[in-house]
Amino acid sequence: MALRDALLCCLWVVWLGHPGRGLPLAPARRPSPAPAVGQFWHVTDLHLDPTYHITDDHTKVCASSKGTNASNPGPFGDVMCDSPYHLILSAFDFIKNSGQEASFMIWTGDSPPHVPVYELSTDTVIMVIANMTTTVQTLFPNLQVFPALGNHDYWPQDQLPAFNSKVYNAVANLWKPWLDEEAIQTLKKGGFYSQKVSTNPNLRIISLNTNLYYGPDIVTLNRSDPANQFEWLENTLNISQQNNEKVYIIAHIPVGYLPYSMGTTAMRELYNEKLIDIFRKYSNVIAGQFYGHTHKDSIMVLSDEKGNPINSAFVAPAVTPVKGALQKETNNPGVRLFQYDPHDYKLLDMLQFYLNLTDANLKGESNWQLEYTLTQTYDIEDLQPQSLYGLAKEFAALDSKKFVKYYNYYFVSYDSSVICDKVCKSFQICAIMNLDHNSYVDCIKHYYLKHNL
Ligand SMILES: *[C@@H]1O[C@H](CO)[C@@H](O)[C@H](O)[C@H]1NC(C)=O
Ligand SMILES: *[C@@H]1O[C@H](CO)[C@@H](O)[C@H](O)[C@H]1NC(C)=O
Ligand SMILES: *[C@@H]1O[C@H](CO)[C@@H](O)[C@H](O)[C@H]1NC(C)=O
Ligand SMILES: *[C@@H]1O[C@H](CO)[C@@H](O)[C@H](O)[C@H]1NC(C)=O
Ligand SMILES: *[C@@H]1O[C@H](CO)[C@@H](O)[C@H](O)[C@H]1NC(C)=O
Ligand SMILES: [Zn+2]
Ligand SMILES: [Zn+2]
Repeated sequence: MALRDALLCCLWVVWLGHPGRGLPLAPARRPSPAPAVGQFWHVTDLHLDPTYHITDDHTKVCASSKGTNASNPGPFGDVMCDSPYHLILSAFDFIKNSGQEASFMIWTGDSPPHVPVYELSTDTVIMVIANMTTTVQTLFPNLQVFPALGNHDYWPQDQLPAFNSKVYNAVANLWKPWLDEEAIQTLKKGGFYSQKVSTNPNLRIISLNTNLYYGPDIVTLNRSDPANQFEWLENTLNISQQNNEKVYIIAHIPVGYLPYSMGTTAMRELYNEKLIDIFRKYSNVIAGQFYGHTHKDSIMVLSDEKGNPINSAFVAPAVTPVKGALQKETNNPGVRLFQYDPHDYKLLDMLQFYLNLTDANLKGESNWQLEYTLTQTYDIEDLQPQSLYGLAKEFAALDSKKFVKYYNYYFVSYDSSVICDKVCKSFQICAIMNLDHNSYVDCIKHYYLKHNL
């Protein structure tokens, strides 16, 4: 394990640093005060397109444009294309050189490109995930990284199975330096795991394979508990509770409703209800939830049956800027840094960084920069459920300026002229504040109907 080696190496240096005192019984340590805040990175939806290259025929720039013309291709990519390797490297180089100290990184899946199924294979999908893994491990040899599988991290895409597979075996091997044996075993069986954070005692990451609950996954149709993940999750949370641990939930497909349409959950509705039940039951153990998949920046607040906010959830925007031919808006590439209280793992703040893709291509250099800091931009105390709930209520007010900001950040500042009309806004608001069916339907009735009829 690279991490343990690194740790041993440091202790060795400490020991060597105290010559002439004989063998110390325990490694001499200066009592270093615990830092006031802990930090971790969240990256997601890298979607590497290895075919990306600049050429005069814009239909040939990248396989992921699927025959349509790239719009304005440059060294850092194009909005019609998935990420060139150069873009992904610039993101990780930025993280590495940012000067920020982080105790770990979460990585919520989707490494292969959006291309027709026949252009990929199990082997090419594994190759892309291996490439991304090696890239991260080379740049951050001493950082523990917690990956989650995405619906594109399989071939054929979306068809992640509820049993052992070549891809699960491959990632279990690739991710070994970050995980314990028990995590490796469940990863092989069902594509999920739980793992303690080595730098933070009493903090556990639960990496769920929510792709098993994704609508297009026909392998899991009609199954009440694919790969027994629900049962395992309840058990794992129960044990964490007994051991006084806190848990961060990470997964690719988010819980809750898609913020851009009415009444559509990101995963199948029954699975969503089941997951909400479990999260509610163990909300005092879960200190945060982190997702990807939508490629957009959004927040959600889980409430209990009585409507009290009990959990905060964050969907991170993608590194890939790709959009469909018919879509007007897309996202700039983004990565984010969370800040937490190292004593109880409560989330304090989030810094969203982004690359202005147009500008980077224009100048031929990547100027990753801070887009916003969550508490500052919205003038809230912290990232606790009560704070986010209060913010969402402010968003809901007619002509809320904060909501205009939120909607610009939703696309990672891709187009500040974009407008969310009343209908659009009611979907956004209801998706932020309601993750289960009953409360969501109530919200649509009250908010949408009140404002739109
Ligand atoms: C791509 O752009 C070229 C040059 O503008 C044009 O001739 C061609 O029809 C376009 N192809 C597609 C598929 O839109
Ligand atoms: C990953 O793929 C890119 C682009 O295809 C290539 O340039 C790079 O060398 C690969 N890196 C690793 C670590 O495999
Ligand atoms: C799933 O259940 C539905 C209705 O209960 C049934 O029509 C369908 O054939 C089932 N699909 C599979 C794959 O078992
Ligand atoms: C956790 O498991 C124990 C023992 O099985 C059980 O008594 C307890 O009710 C469970 N906790 C919750 C919150 O369900
Ligand atoms: C991104 O860069 C372009 C080109 O330099 C500029 O016109 C645009 O305003 C920038 N967008 C943001 C959000 O700064
Ligand atoms: Zn994706
Ligand atoms: Zn996805």
